[in-house]
Amino acid sequence: MTIKPFKLERYYTLYEFTADYLLCSSDCEAISIRELLALEDGAAEKMFDLNLGYTETKGAPELRRDIATIYKEISPADLLVCSGAQEPIFLFSQAMLKAGDEVIVQSPCYQSLQSVPESLGCRVKEWKVRYKRNTPTFDLGELEQMIGPKTKIIYLNTPHNPTGFHFTETEQAAIVAMARKNNIIIFCDEVYRELERDLQYRIPAIADVYEQGVSLGVMSKTYGLPGLRIGWLATKNHSILNKIAILKEYTTICNAGPSEFLAGVGLRNREKLIAKNLQIVENNLPLLDVFFDKYANLFSWHKPIAGPIAFVKMNFDEHDGLFAERVLKEKKVLLLPGDIYDYNGFFRIGFCRNNMPTALAKFEEFVVENLI
Ligand SMILES: Cc1ncc(COP(=O)(O)O)c(C=O)c1O
Repeated sequence: MTIKPFKLERYYTLYEFTADYLLCSSDCEAISIRELLALEDGAAEKMFDLNLGYTETKGAPELRRDIATIYKEISPADLLVCSGAQEPIFLFSQAMLKAGDEVIVQSPCYQSLQSVPESLGCRVKEWKVRYKRNTPTFDLGELEQMIGPKTKIIYLNTPHNPTGFHFTETEQAAIVAMARKNNIIIFCDEVYRELERDLQYRIPAIADVYEQGVSLGVMSKTYGLPGLRIGWLATKNHSILNKIAILKEYTTICNAGPSEFLAGVGLRNREKLIAKNLQIVENNLPLLDVFFDKYANLFSWHKPIAGPIAFVKMNFDEHDGLFAERVLKEKKVLLLPGDIYDYNGFFRIGFCRNNMPTALAKFEEFVVENLI
């Protein structure tokens, strides 16, 4: 298999643990095992008694019951638990595609959504973001034009990495109608779902509204538990799940039992985790508003209605990669340059970390010392 290196994950491998301040994280503030177990009476004792045998390939039945509560129409049998969100993205494309197939993917995107189909010899059509008065949009008319007789899968990601864009329910219904008419599977990366700043922005999971819809969920982002490496696919289409389970027996076979147990505790208490993380977002966003107002000549941003990230436009002439390199070198603050997404002139910021105010203050020092 020949696949392009994953630019974003390479970048994080190099810098995540050496930078002092992460100003671009897409995962929300994590908590400790102790804090997680404290959310449920008796959970710590149960954890000590956990048997460390293999677990079920599909995921423990109790965990699948907890995951199913996120959805309206999904039952435990409609779920396959995997390692994080990355493994199911990889396995889904491997299981469903062959050379010559055609897929559509939002662009820019989290790279595996595009690079895995490309590595299989598929034609990948990019549904490109259009900025209208600073606001990211995806044009439904363009999508309709892109659909052809060979289109097998539409890959969506909402709330979207990196732009912070989020579909409305009406837009989602229109995409489902197009897919249904053309017998196309929709794979929707919903790793930032449930981090809407107001409930009015929450849209249904694709697996709840489309019989050929596959929803991707994970503990890493909205719930702030990336170290568990627990993610899942939800779909009513069991033939898809079965194909992926067969491949999973070649990768991780089953999930880590302790992680499955802890993910269950997290999900049964997810309203608390969501409230904690939304509070961090609401504390941080006003600081970003002030910052971007103050430096409007240098940067433009669109404040997202959902998710923990935004894509910031640079209004001055410097390569985003070199800019991020300078900021890292001088202030040990990590930004994620648009170059990582092959989308230059922007950088990604993240705002669901407790120390974001300090990271922003350090970044501001750089701005004042170098750009004013
Ligand atoms: C849109 C999107 N999908 C999937 C992933 C992978 O998630 P995980 O690290 O939990 O495997 C990420 C991580 O950044 C992401 O942003």
